[in-house]
Amino acid sequence: MHKLQAAITAVHGYAPEYILTNHELEALVDTNDEWITTRTGIKERRILKGEGTATSDLAVPAVNGLLKKRGIGAEEIDLIIFCTTTPDMPFPATANILADKIGAKNAWGYDLQAACSGFVFGLATGAAFIESGKHKKVLVVGGDKMSSIIDYQDRATCIIFGDGCGAALLEPNTEGYGVVDSVLKSDGSGREFLNMKAGGSLRPATHETVSAREHYAFQEGKTVFKFAVTNMANVAAEIMERNNLVADDVAWLVPHQANKRIIDATANRMGISDEKVVINIERYGNTTNGTIPLCLWEWESKFKKGDNIVLAAFGGGFTWGSLYLKWAY
Ligand code: UT7
Repeated sequence: MHKLQAAITAVHGYAPEYILTNHELEALVDTNDEWITTRTGIKERRILKGEGTATSDLAVPAVNGLLKKRGIGAEEIDLIIFCTTTPDMPFPATANILADKIGAKNAWGYDLQAACSGFVFGLATGAAFIESGKHKKVLVVGGDKMSSIIDYQDRATCIIFGDGCGAALLEPNTEGYGVVDSVLKSDGSGREFLNMKAGGSLRPATHETVSAREHYAFQEGKTVFKFAVTNMANVAAEIMERNNLVADDVAWLVPHQANKRIIDATANRMGISDEKVVINIERYGNTTNGTIPLCLWEWESKFKKGDNIVLAAFGGGFTWGSLYLKWAY
């Protein structure tokens, strides 16, 4: 018998129906399909339309799909970690709202804010609750309604982000499958390059903050790009090295989908060939906390039991991290 590990036993995702294409963005801002495609790899992204819809509404179909697949009821969930940068409200936590909407009556939960690294941080945190023996079923959700904080007059950000959500269930495993290791980092001095300036305790909402468009995501792309390329690659290389993995040992790299060029740089640094890199950025853009679980969901049928999978992410904060797991089914 191996030591107690946290294994992913089911994944599911949800991407809203509405497709926002590069061509549609050409009508909103001074941009073009060729620039967006070559600089980011993105062709289209999904948008959650409708009054009164929120991030939790992206999570409900993702989680209900997961529960159905695993054949369990929502009341069996012990803990919900909701990784999001666009909570339904500043409080209460979207984890609580989701629990109510799906009927997870016996779960406690909280939101985890680590921008685009959220899902990796959430999996590592959820795994610790399983490894300690405290919980048997931990639901890690990563999702964002980015369209709620995107300025569709700002071509630096509106071409990148989209809406989407995915979820993974963690359960105990003593057969050598599940989360093996993680390397998690943060550096708050990066906050000036990627943020939302108003709406927090520093700058509560006023007419002035609204007029100054400070309730939208701001990004100084070039600086973030430089940090992302270096740090995402470093952390992925570090997790391989300390687990004695060479490129041939890695079955899949599942990277955060921010920019195809950042993904390529990370894969190159790891020595991983293209066919082992999970990429769906062309269809969803950057869904922030949603990217990695959406990838896991879409590639689930290709993963084999025992596959070594490396996740890697970089996001606002700055935050970054990598997680190594052995696929359990
Ligand atoms: O997920 C969280 C972490 N986020 C990231 O990892 C994102 C990191 N950053 C990026 O992916 C890239 O920096 C962007 C995609 C945001 C921008 O790409 P870039 O190659 O860094 O472009 P840039 O900002 O250096 O701009 C290059 C040129 C500029 O024109 P000039 O000064 O060279 O004449 C921009 O004004 O492209 C121009 N430009 C655009 N042109 C058409 C900037 N945005 C656009 C646009 N359409 N949307």
